[in-house]
Amino acid sequence: MTDDMSLSRRGILATGCVLAGAGVLAACGSSNGPSSSSPSASTDSTDGSASGGEVLTTVAAIPVGGGSVFDGPKVVVTQPVEGEIKAFTAVCPHQGCLVNEVADNQIICPCHGSLFSAEDGAVIQGPATSGLAPVAVMVKDGAIVTD
Ligand code: FES
Repeated sequence: MTDDMSLSRRGILATGCVLAGAGVLAACGSSNGPSSSSPSASTDSTDGSASGGEVLTTVAAIPVGGGSVFDGPKVVVTQPVEGEIKAFTAVCPHQGCLVNEVADNQIICPCHGSLFSAEDGAVIQGPATSGLAPVAVMVKDGAIVTD
């Protein structure tokens, strides 16, 4: 039951990214968007209202060029450049292992060595043949919250 709920929520988040990507966030994939300099995560510190999202961590806790993996929601959060927060599914598309580390702007899968870009989730090195799907997150008062 919990796994089903988790998968369902991940699906919703991924879908939300696609549907609301321009307004809300994260590495929603395409580089042909209207603004190449738009921030990855929206920042909304003017409205304290809850959005129903889950607080994953804080911006300050994500090292520049690094990231953190959250096993529960199966999300990896990165900060490729200072102030630019990205989030992706932590489930490797190769055979489903969870990625476990982010170093030098590369997300690492420990199972078979796939590497993914911390900027956009794209495959840098296989065996994975597709990238990590983006997850919609936003920054609220320094906290990184799922959308
Ligand atoms: Fe990630 Fe194989 S499951 S590289």
